[in-house]
Amino acid sequence: MKGVILAGGSGTRLHPLTKVTSKQLLPVYDKPMIYYPLTTLILAGVKHVLVITRPEDAPSFKALLGNGSEFGISISYAEQEKPAGLAQAPLIAEDFLNGEGFCLILGDNFLYGSGLGRKLQNLNSVEGATVFAYKVNDPTQYGVVELDSNGKPISIEEKPKSPKTDLAIPGLYFFDKEIVDICRALKPSPRGELEITDAIKEYMSRGKLSVEVLPIGTAWLDMGSFESLLEAGEFVHIVQARQGVLIGDPITAMRTRNSSK
Ligand code: TTP
Repeated sequence: MKGVILAGGSGTRLHPLTKVTSKQLLPVYDKPMIYYPLTTLILAGVKHVLVITRPEDAPSFKALLGNGSEFGISISYAEQEKPAGLAQAPLIAEDFLNGEGFCLILGDNFLYGSGLGRKLQNLNSVEGATVFAYKVNDPTQYGVVELDSNGKPISIEEKPKSPKTDLAIPGLYFFDKEIVDICRALKPSPRGELEITDAIKEYMSRGKLSVEVLPIGTAWLDMGSFESLLEAGEFVHIVQARQGVLIGDPITAMRTRNSSK
């Protein structure tokens, strides 16, 4: 399976930290931020990764991750000229995808939980789109999904002022090949971005959207604010120190993946 990490953006909430470097290169305890979403992709069974960055950050990401051989995968790179929205990712990745479905993860998303890798591996080659839902205290900063009693999605809203539910959609998505045409047809939102929420809504209107609620105990953080950046670092430190495991380490993830085959 193919995977894309979207690691551009302006990172304004982390100024001045992100004035001269990419958010996704900042340290989260003992690793650069991008190691965490990269590890999630490896655990999901991804073998070919495209990393999308701002043009000015591309040399740093290439120096850090190389061609991926160190981690047993292939890594290639593409640039996003302007932070014009998450739904630009499938368009930038079109050549890399070559008509195949893929898994998209945002470069600032941290996911950790028992059985997560196995769950994600089962989503390999799904038809339509699969997104996740995660219960949060304050959903107003996220895409929010409403499910019926059978778990079918019935509404999705981007950053609603009065959310209908407390289920946020994390920045990890599985799309089939239709995503490229869907994103190509999108119009920019009032904030001038191509919204991934609009693409997901299109799958919903076609009856081709599945939503998996992440179990209690799963950790999900977007590391884009000072608080969540610190919390992610603390989480990694505490679990690593207590249990002697490495979180967000692509090499360890590859060993785990190979041994569970
Ligand atoms: P955001 O956190 O929504 O935006 P940002 O990174 O620009 O930060 P801020 O809100 O503080 O200004 O982005 C989520 C993730 O998606 C993050 O990893 C950056 C990435 N991203 C892009 O690569 N390109 C884009 O056009 C956007 C909007 C985000």
